[in-house]
Amino acid sequence: MKPTIQLETKPVKTDAIIILIDKKSNLNKCGLTKTEITTVQQAIKKDIKLITLNGVPVKQVLLLEAKQDQMRTNEDLRKTGNSLLASINKYKCKKVGIANHSGISGAAYFIAEGMALGNYQFIQYKKDATKKENSLQSVRIADAGISKHQIAELNATIEASYRVRDLVNEPVNHLNAEGLAEALSQMGKEVGVKVTVFNKKKIIEMGMGGLLSVNQGSIDPPTFTIMEYKPANAKNQKPIVLVGKGVVYDTGGLSLKPTGNSMDYMKCDMAGAATMGGVIYTAAKLQWPLHIIALMPATDNRPGGNAFAPGDIIKMYNGLTVEMLNSDAEGRMILADALSYSKQYDPELVIDMATLTGAAHRALGNFAIAYMSTADSDTNKKLEQAGEEVFERLVYFPLWEEYGELIESDIADMKNVGGALAGHITAGKFLQRFTDYPWIHLDIAGLAFFHSTMSYRGKNATAIGLRLLLQFLKHRMNEQ
Ligand code: BES
Ligand code: MN
Ligand code: ZN
Repeated sequence: MKPTIQLETKPVKTDAIIILIDKKSNLNKCGLTKTEITTVQQAIKKDIKLITLNGVPVKQVLLLEAKQDQMRTNEDLRKTGNSLLASINKYKCKKVGIANHSGISGAAYFIAEGMALGNYQFIQYKKDATKKENSLQSVRIADAGISKHQIAELNATIEASYRVRDLVNEPVNHLNAEGLAEALSQMGKEVGVKVTVFNKKKIIEMGMGGLLSVNQGSIDPPTFTIMEYKPANAKNQKPIVLVGKGVVYDTGGLSLKPTGNSMDYMKCDMAGAATMGGVIYTAAKLQWPLHIIALMPATDNRPGGNAFAPGDIIKMYNGLTVEMLNSDAEGRMILADALSYSKQYDPELVIDMATLTGAAHRALGNFAIAYMSTADSDTNKKLEQAGEEVFERLVYFPLWEEYGELIESDIADMKNVGGALAGHITAGKFLQRFTDYPWIHLDIAGLAFFHSTMSYRGKNATAIGLRLLLQFLKHRMNEQ
């Protein structure tokens, strides 16, 4: 159940009450009875941070403490919000009230955000889905530090996060390339985004050799989805183009992924496409004054009868040739065509997002997106800043030309793999050859999908990158 967040100016009746305080709060003003105040005071002395008061509705007092920096404080609040869900859902509470009596302005916002994001479930295929569904439906917050506008943005972001995660969690037998294009079209339609879907015939006509080569082993046709949001009051003269990897399933193709479990979660390989869909959906829904275009090339990658074979030379959309030496490096093949296609828009900036390499995951673990960039350092800094604000952090990797030498081919313009070392960077170098505009590459492999619960990011699909790009675009929108 996706909870809706509402801002309240006076107390409302809820099934659960969370009262945020800090050591300086005046407990007489927090809506507590005398006995409750005594309980809270005793608990504070014992350094108890979460105080559960007796009686229905669930009433909890949370002792907050600001951390060394705001980013850390906010993230801890989100995590706390998520951890409060357990008792809320256990006692089947539908409405939760959060009253902020602490000195941390806006604390209820982050608690609510963590709660709402953490309440996500993907259970529609279970026979007892309704019984298993979390009870929480709405979060009512009273916090003088939060505006109505912020809450509208938060609700739209939560909605998008649920939709992106639904798409990523959907397995390939329920969501192939055409299904993804259909879902994105639907999302676009809801918010007035223009959607064009190229079918296989059109993709052949266009000569998108990268996308077609990956699709060769597949029975299902590829798709290429274009979403365009162009409000009359756009602040950017040139569009911002978003490109998302839409590999709806990655077996590795003929360079088959080893069994064990490396293939088990490869339904998540379209997370980039789903997330970019979520970004443009949210921007349009909130009517942000930004001209944004999203491109999502999509196919599955399989070892079918006509599958592209290591050694193949493929002519890409922009005419360059690629010696394909590992069919498991398929993401860059389909992204390359979309990046070349982006040129016609004369973009201000192109950002691509892809579950691209295990190397990015190995380099940074579960805690950061690997990024590369040809945009100016000011733009990079703003992106990193946005990442810290929403706690979807990024680490910069260089696009030095020495890494580019690793993908030189004897017989074609380049090869699609660069060896065992720094695989995320050689992948980035490959993509760079298809760009001639300011460009940022986000490698989200490893963060798009978790096998165990990661606090409010949940288990399985995380929609990582969604909140990052929304925050980044929000800043861009407020610039000039
Ligand atoms: N989809 C995978 C990357 C991936 C790994 C996504 C883990 C999510 C979690 C990608 O297509 C891939 O197979 N990359 C290869 C590239 C290699 C063959 C150069 C990899 O990283 O091993
Ligand atoms: Mn692959
Ligand atoms: Zn892949």
